[in-house]
Amino acid sequence: MKIVVPTETDKHEPRVAATPETVKKFVALGAEVAVQSGAGAGSRIPDEDYEAAGATIAKTAPPMLKSADIVLKVRRPGAGEIKNFQSGAILVGALDPIGHDDVVQALAEAGVGAFAMEFLPRITRAQGMDVLSSQANLAGYQAIIDAAENFGRAFPMMMTAAGTVPAARVFVMGAGVAGLQAIATARRLGAVVTATDVRPAAKEQVESLGAKFVAVEDEEFKQAETAGGYAKEMSKEYQAKQAELVAEHLKKQDVVVTTALIPGRPAPKLVSKDMVASMKPGSVLVDLAVERGGNVEGAKPGEIAEVGEVRIVGYLNSPGRIPASASALYARNLYAFVETMIDKESKALAIDWDDELIKATNLTRDGAVVHPAFADKGAE
Ligand code: NAI
Repeated sequence: MKIVVPTETDKHEPRVAATPETVKKFVALGAEVAVQSGAGAGSRIPDEDYEAAGATIAKTAPPMLKSADIVLKVRRPGAGEIKNFQSGAILVGALDPIGHDDVVQALAEAGVGAFAMEFLPRITRAQGMDVLSSQANLAGYQAIIDAAENFGRAFPMMMTAAGTVPAARVFVMGAGVAGLQAIATARRLGAVVTATDVRPAAKEQVESLGAKFVAVEDEEFKQAETAGGYAKEMSKEYQAKQAELVAEHLKKQDVVVTTALIPGRPAPKLVSKDMVASMKPGSVLVDLAVERGGNVEGAKPGEIAEVGEVRIVGYLNSPGRIPASASALYARNLYAFVETMIDKESKALAIDWDDELIKATNLTRDGAVVHPAFADKGAE
């Protein structure tokens, strides 16, 4: 069984889908592992470290892909890569397939068994495989680091011989995985932290990290969580009340990190142009939702927007800004998932197609698109 790790073709993607640690584990399972030369460079992993872990190094991707049983990727492959896959190969990655039906169709036509890691159900058994959580966690951390870099002032209160520097006031909007890590990181740096979310369960989590919860806690708020633990889109009335509360609060903040997402919907707009304009000179907003339309009006994907004296940081691929850690966790997530596909006795691929994790993530199989999310679009 041959597992291959090509270099990501998107030049803005520094992460890699396997590390020497996971290569070693795959080799111990009886797999042959090939890594494309330079695949780990963006994550500070030299070829020699992969070799020492038991991988062979391939100069280019095509020959390696043509003999692969399993291909490990960070991002969705392009048409140029897919043409090199052999029929029957398994592809595992954060394929982000929604809205990319053409790629899903191409994978089906190539006979690839593709698995999108984002579709894993968030159940206990899948926690070690949860790429959304591992990457969001690092994105939340990185948002505070990026905010601190752009802030021009210190985060902690400092009492010096020359007088006192006040602590930064940080407001985190959306207290899911990324938001909670942003709160924890800002607290470690000594900031005074407040946070908001529309899910009532978030209140206790925010408070347990030493931050204050700020939200309109009416009847609608008390019902605002789906059975799956995600946010619902709130009514226009609620949004207006919450916006009023947020508008007053924002005027007193130095740093705002927004992470709010609603599955299957564009990111909710939480900070208007007027709210940005009301902030103190030197304030910084970091919009982690910018790839999904943004929470902050005026945020520009991939850029730092200057609005008067306020900066809006709209970096893309935040986990990729901390690539060595992001790759380490992502590679472990992939190992935990792929390990379930390998028979420990025969050391061969043995996928249990009835397993709920396999069913939830499998996009294509035996020449057809099989995932329900694409049911009316090309399943054969
Ligand atoms: P997400 O990335 O979908 O959204 C981020 C946050 O934005 C969420 O907390 C959401 O409630 C919030 N949000 C949405 N609209 C908002 C608005 N208008 N104003 C303020 N906040 C808003 O969520 P994420 O980080 O993926 O986590 C969602 C939930 O799933 C959390 O409760 C998390 O703890 C839970 N979870 C459970 C896991 C498990 O294995 N059981 C693993 C990971 C997350």
